[in-house]
Amino acid sequence: MCPPAHFRVTYSINPWMDPAKPVDVPLAVAQWEDLRDRYRALGHTVEELTPRPGLPDMVFAANGATVIGGRVLGARFAHPERSAEAAEHLDWFRARGFGRIAEPDHINEGEGDFAVTASWILAGRGFRASPLSHGEAQEFFGRPVLGLDLVDPRYYHLDTALAVLDDARDEVMYYPGAFSPGSREVLRRLFPDALIATEADATAFGLNAVSDGRHVLLPQSATGLFGPLRERGFEPVGMDLGELLKGGGSVKCCTQELRT
Ligand code: ARG
Repeated sequence: MCPPAHFRVTYSINPWMDPAKPVDVPLAVAQWEDLRDRYRALGHTVEELTPRPGLPDMVFAANGATVIGGRVLGARFAHPERSAEAAEHLDWFRARGFGRIAEPDHINEGEGDFAVTASWILAGRGFRASPLSHGEAQEFFGRPVLGLDLVDPRYYHLDTALAVLDDARDEVMYYPGAFSPGSREVLRRLFPDALIATEADATAFGLNAVSDGRHVLLPQSATGLFGPLRERGFEPVGMDLGELLKGGGSVKCCTQELRT
């Protein structure tokens, strides 16, 4: 995770970002600290990346790399405003002695568009990640990568429209309206028992969630997801990241998972 010390909305690269709307930075920091402390209270280790001035979106740490089995695939950002973030992440992994690190040739924004399940890497495309990054990830991780087409600009990253609930069991929740008809069919085939989110919960960023297989941390305003999650045996943990939403991100965007 990367603290939002320099978080601002100074440019707009997704429909949620309005530079005319002021950001309350101290409030953003407090909300972010709540999320970090919640992870720690649940027994998870949280590493912190040092935020850099001039990189206001660095708080969205999920975009900086993808780590599976200790292998680190770096990011290559679609927008120049964020491109310098990639090196910050790579430096962090190098300093910590991660051995297998790849710098990508093709655009991928880390876990923004890559979601890891037991059997596959689900990979979004349409707005950010290059379709060519899918083959690159498959080659590097040696895991099957399944491309999914995103069609609604509000759900510009896969992690705004789909969340992995249990990566040991291929269990996911998603909002069908974010995907092309063919990709919706693919999702139905792969995950016939998926939790299907309503548009209201999707616009509340309810799919931008992080699950440890039991607790699901998600925006508290995605109220429609709490009951269905409980019915499936999960414990929903509502978080308020309202200030970060002004940048177009929430719980998952702020969290890069280190699958070591
Ligand atoms: N402002 C950032 C962008 O548009 C938000 C990134 C959100 N991150 C995510 N994993 N969806 O790039």
